[in-house]
Amino acid sequence: MAIDVIILAAGQGTRMKSALPKVLHPLGGKPLLAHVIDTVNHLDGAQITIVVGHQAEAIKDNFTDNNINWAEQTDQLGTAHAVAQALPYLRNNSQALIVYGDVPLIELETLTALVDSVNESALRLLTAQLANPTGYGRIVRADNDDGDGEVVAIVEQKDATPEQLEISEINTGVMCLPSESLKSWIPEIKSDNVQKEYYLTDIIAVAKAHGHRIITSQPRSLNEVEGVNTRLQLAKLERAYQAQIANRLMDAGVSLADPQRFDCRGDLKVGTDVFIDLNCLFEGNVCLGNGVRIGPNCVIANANIGNDVAIKANTVIEGSTSKGLVTVGDRVQIGPFARLREGTTLAEDVRIGNFVETKKALLGSASKANHLSYLGDAQIGEGVNIGAGTITCNYDGVNKHQTKIDDGAFIGSNTSLVAPVSIGGGATIGAGSTICKAVPADNLSVGRGIQRNIKGWARPVKKKQD
Ligand code: UD1
Ligand code: CA
Repeated sequence: MAIDVIILAAGQGTRMKSALPKVLHPLGGKPLLAHVIDTVNHLDGAQITIVVGHQAEAIKDNFTDNNINWAEQTDQLGTAHAVAQALPYLRNNSQALIVYGDVPLIELETLTALVDSVNESALRLLTAQLANPTGYGRIVRADNDDGDGEVVAIVEQKDATPEQLEISEINTGVMCLPSESLKSWIPEIKSDNVQKEYYLTDIIAVAKAHGHRIITSQPRSLNEVEGVNTRLQLAKLERAYQAQIANRLMDAGVSLADPQRFDCRGDLKVGTDVFIDLNCLFEGNVCLGNGVRIGPNCVIANANIGNDVAIKANTVIEGSTSKGLVTVGDRVQIGPFARLREGTTLAEDVRIGNFVETKKALLGSASKANHLSYLGDAQIGEGVNIGAGTITCNYDGVNKHQTKIDDGAFIGSNTSLVAPVSIGGGATIGAGSTICKAVPADNLSVGRGIQRNIKGWARPVKKKQD
């Protein structure tokens, strides 16, 4: 069945006190509105119309998907007025589904249940029971003994009587109804209320006047219908969202040292028997193989990590989707305190130790850089040993240059490799060398001042204080 989704996102979001439009504030690293779009996109036959007003251009610029219709609401005269702007985009014989751009955790199952109602001509409303319903529209039902009589009205907080304010069932704002009904009923809604706004909630009375039924359903979790108006609410939803991801990972066989100290802002794929210690953050697309162990305080972005890799405490892995992912082979050991940047590729059994930075560097299998190094724009073969303090001098102030080190080379500590330069297989570089010329295979190269030992030299003596 064709579904026309209307996402309301024209409101100002004043209480965020932000230059950024509210619906662009990130949750789990993704704009609030993107969560809603991604969810409704999973509905079969969905076409999306988004109603924007405040900072419309800034919002549109973030969503370049051509399949989205943009409806502008220049003045925010209420939720019914917002929906009115979307009406020209509705198709005939479709169901219209109305959701909010600032309610990010609504779930597909909940929406599907509303859309796939047995009574397709009814108005289906998502409601929820709240311990503290303050601020929400209250669901007023016809009197019957069980308190589950049909919905007769939704009364906004500002228009409610003291008795109505006691009602704990609230309007979530999410509803579904035939598009044709929506088109003919919206113009009947008036603004004669305390706020002088066109309330979408008044559609209940209109539907009933036309002899249509009102059916309600509830979400599985209240987080689904929680909106973001303040930064506190955003922070609370962020924790709820992270808890969902943590639960899913644990269900998939990952051990989290503390699910409350885990964050994912993107898409994390995992093998079996992965262990993640405290305070780790995953960003972008990260894939962890089987048996990966990650120490505390690691940040890992856009990386493919092989099987049985150990990433020790305080390691930062910063792959980039545009500048190059980080790829790590099986059984590699990284850190503590290592930094792997974009375009780093480590073959199996490589070891990267503390205070080693790599960028656009390829290390062949079983090569090691165990301490204090910068390896940038480097192609390093297998079984190479990079001594402590080795630096690839890849930048001349204008251009970047390549360093090539062949299999089995041994680079002594504190070597500067002035690129472009190449070191042949099996070559040995004496510690403290500055290498500016190619070193042939199996040579020993020493590029440092000759040591002089001076006999009979006297240390300065301390002057007497006056
Ligand atoms: C609305 C409902 C209320 C419900 C609550 C759930 C109405 C009259 N009231 O109240 O019953 O309990 O949501 O959160 O519908 N928007 C526009 N244009 C406008 C006004 C609003 O696009 O002119 C958008 C906002 O950006 C927001 C959504 O509609 O995404 C809801 O607007 P908001 O002002 O938050 O409605 P509430 O007063 O909270
Ligand atoms: Ca609201």
